[in-house]
Amino acid sequence: MSDLELHDVQGLIARGYAHLKAASYILLRIGDAVSARAWLGAIAPRITPAPDPAADSALNVAFTASGLTQLGLGAEIMHQFSDEFTAGMTTPHRQRMFGDLGPSAPETWLWGGPSTPTPHVLLALIARDTDILNQRYSALAGEFAGVSVITRLDSDVDLDGKEHFGFADGISQPTVEGLSDRQDTPPNTIRTGEFILGYVNEYSLYTDRPLLDRRLDPEWLLPADVQGSGKVDLGRNGTFLVFRQLAQDVRGFWRFVDSATRAADGSSDVDRRNWLAAHMVGRWPSGAPVTLSPDADNPRLATANDFTYQYADQFGFNCPIGAHVRRAHPRDSLDPAPGTARSVELDKRHRLLRRGREYGPPVPPDSLYADPPPDDPERGLYFICLGANIGRQFEFVQHSWVNNPKFDELYDEADPVVGYHPVGMNNFSIPREPVRVRYTNLPQFVTTRGGAYFFLPGLRALRYLASLR
Ligand code: HEM
Repeated sequence: MSDLELHDVQGLIARGYAHLKAASYILLRIGDAVSARAWLGAIAPRITPAPDPAADSALNVAFTASGLTQLGLGAEIMHQFSDEFTAGMTTPHRQRMFGDLGPSAPETWLWGGPSTPTPHVLLALIARDTDILNQRYSALAGEFAGVSVITRLDSDVDLDGKEHFGFADGISQPTVEGLSDRQDTPPNTIRTGEFILGYVNEYSLYTDRPLLDRRLDPEWLLPADVQGSGKVDLGRNGTFLVFRQLAQDVRGFWRFVDSATRAADGSSDVDRRNWLAAHMVGRWPSGAPVTLSPDADNPRLATANDFTYQYADQFGFNCPIGAHVRRAHPRDSLDPAPGTARSVELDKRHRLLRRGREYGPPVPPDSLYADPPPDDPERGLYFICLGANIGRQFEFVQHSWVNNPKFDELYDEADPVVGYHPVGMNNFSIPREPVRVRYTNLPQFVTTRGGAYFFLPGLRALRYLASLR
């Protein structure tokens, strides 16, 4: 039985709102804190809580560390947030960890970098269609006070469950205890505290979160610390949101797999091309996992997610060790004891709840998987993931798995689809007997165009922020 206070949790944690096809991510800057707090207090009752299925639209709100400071949270409270959150995504160390260098460097970003205004507030407005979205946006913008719009990031493209490269996305998600009635396998059922602050996580501990002296909450808005410290809990029912705008070079991706698989006479080998692309992703365009269906797509397996790697596919003969989905979530194949309960236990500490959406026009269907036109205007993914610990979840996955050139005994290669591909990391190996096949000179397919870390508070914490003086 879960003690999760769903009514106090913002909806985005519980739902991806797949039935709501249009979204706007509105980045705001706080100019006048007094008016901004009054405005937040006014919209707080309209933030969509987790139990609300949101027939037509949903609204969620989150804040960067500078946004919280701007609203009036004191330094002694800000110090209780993690360093990842307060230092932000663009520190030199993180640029190296994430491969945010060269064309992905924060200096070139459209937002969130040093050459653009610092975002303070993120509004995630999601609606059934573009008309409803625009109506809701106009009503919302009419009330803005003390804030100005930095940019409005629109996701108004419906790719029917696929991402721009042409593969089904959003299939594998963790089931969070207490968040839904969904029954799932034990390895995919993750304790509440991995995704929501103020609850027990996969270490059987409470994730760090800001706890305040009772006197700092004179209106008694915040819940008590359930660990009995006598303090009040600003984190409870909130989480962190990682947002990265990732541009995709769809033409470059399909041109690469085409040229890498040409027949001896120089002609395109369509089957071989699609086979290589699927083995780079780890799933076929339908979503079928290549570990279960290594030779050809099998739409009957499109949503299959109950599989492991260690016993059936230890050496990666079906799904290459370095494929995107295998790096991003190695399941039971983690050292020091792959295939054991211990390995699954470790895996559960590095899960991501993905809530991303695509942007930019769809690739014309007749040229996708073949020779798409140039990606102009830009298209890509608003990569959004949620988690109670940015360092142990998003940053670890991005750095130690996705971009790790030595991942699981591989070397000189990163994630072939979304990884950082400078010379020395631009290879991709497909294990084979007697020797592996190695593809070389992979171009950069994904470029970072913006990003920031946000705190997505519980609803009582939101009211508290609005009440600050
Ligand atoms: C433009 C960039 C990206 C694209 C096109 C992309 C595409 C995909 C696709 C097609 C899948 C398989 C479908 C599914 O299981 O839902 C997938 C799964 C996944 N991706 Fe990505 N992805 C991108 C970036 C990232 C990044 C940056 C991360 C993490 C740092 C990431 C983490 C994951 C995870 C954790 C899974 C689920 C794997 C599993 O549980 O089996 N992705 N992605």
